[in-house]
Amino acid sequence: MAQNWTPNSWRQKPIQQVPDFPDMAALNATEAQLATYPPLVFAGEARRLKNQLANVSEGKGFLLQGGDCAESFAEHGADTIRDFFRAFLQMAVVLTFGAQQPVVKVGRIAGQFAKPRSSNIEKQGDVELPSYRGDIINGIEFNEKARIPDPERQIMAYRQSAATLNLLRAFAMGGYANLENVHQWMLGFVKDSPQAERYRKLADRISETMDFMKAIGITSENHPSLRETDFFTSHEALLLGYEQALTRVDSTSGDWYATSGHMIWIGDRTRQPDHAHIEYCRGIKNPLGLKCGPSLTGDGLIELIDLLNPQNEAGRLTLICRFGHDKVAEHLPRLIRAVEKEGRKVVWSCDPMHGNTITLNSYKTRPFERILSEVESFFQIHRAEGTHPGGIHIEMTGNDVTECTGGARALSGADLADRYHTHCDPRLNADQALELAFLLAERMKGGRDEKRMVANG
Ligand code: TRP
Ligand code: MN
Repeated sequence: MAQNWTPNSWRQKPIQQVPDFPDMAALNATEAQLATYPPLVFAGEARRLKNQLANVSEGKGFLLQGGDCAESFAEHGADTIRDFFRAFLQMAVVLTFGAQQPVVKVGRIAGQFAKPRSSNIEKQGDVELPSYRGDIINGIEFNEKARIPDPERQIMAYRQSAATLNLLRAFAMGGYANLENVHQWMLGFVKDSPQAERYRKLADRISETMDFMKAIGITSENHPSLRETDFFTSHEALLLGYEQALTRVDSTSGDWYATSGHMIWIGDRTRQPDHAHIEYCRGIKNPLGLKCGPSLTGDGLIELIDLLNPQNEAGRLTLICRFGHDKVAEHLPRLIRAVEKEGRKVVWSCDPMHGNTITLNSYKTRPFERILSEVESFFQIHRAEGTHPGGIHIEMTGNDVTECTGGARALSGADLADRYHTHCDPRLNADQALELAFLLAERMKGGRDEKRMVANG
């Protein structure tokens, strides 16, 4: 167990991004109540994810992590969850088939509610109010009452997470994810999209393979791996009081686990080595993500790895790099070299969203070509350094939103107003997400062929 660590030792440390709760007694009461609730995930599941990530860190597999920037209480319908899951499965199957590698599936979902903000204050005209910090803390409506942090929201977030997780488990294990349904995942708006034809062709090949396997006696009835998939949840561990209340001892190992989700990550703004967020995360055994932005130095990264993964356990730590399409070439190689020099085991993942946000027609947006460009550079740099480009971390939805410009349908700045629904950052729509998956599959296949050519001389 981590030295001198307890689930509340973070409270002794300096902390960033804390909401100003007006009623501390109410906050304490809520946290006490949450601590009596059942865990949302089990330690064994978190260990299973860690094992899968350990394979990725050794070059055997790819991490697909994605979902909303911020989940909301308003959009908690079965359709939203199903549409997300369907788009996610489509991406996963494109990657698995294209790259011929296992894909580790992790949603930014069932707990992704708290948001770090660059300013404590939002100004509209002459009115200044506290910033919106995610539905688990306050309301997005621009009025005084909504913006007051309300602890009761943590109970709502917990319950929404439980319901979302319940449906996701049913989809993942109950038949929806059966590879025999690979054509059905296309229903919805994607079926008229520019990606449809490409996807249909791939689905045909999978169906043909399944028919062949059936002929030789391998069916989804006798091989559960054809009809089930492991789907894991993740979110930023920002609101530490909530995380602490859901931190539990695993009875089989005696270790502490965060039970709010399978994997949690630390944001680029809250990764100070001597601060609260690192303190909390170092003591739990879940797989962790660490967001790495341009200000992180090689030495700074090694210091954080020493704190978060002192045993150098494979699968424990995923470095989620978010530099921007024009900065990735400057920053990624030096971090890779620092990690390689010290022989640290990590999963390298690319977040091509957060370094590529611009404002257009007063909308926050992300040009799709910049997202692709950061992904391309990520792959090229890893090839050049001889390391494994292990994953992708994206903000996406299964719906037909207009939040990021570009893509095969060439969304323009003028289109943004049509269906701009995000509660925080702009997300890829299902179409753009699928287009990205095809590009990734090509790059991964390229890397594989290259390796084979080297092996064959
Ligand atoms: N169980 C395997 C996996 O998760 C195969 C599989 C079943 C699958 N359903 C899937 C792969 C849906 C991708 C998408 O990889
Ligand atoms: Mn975001």
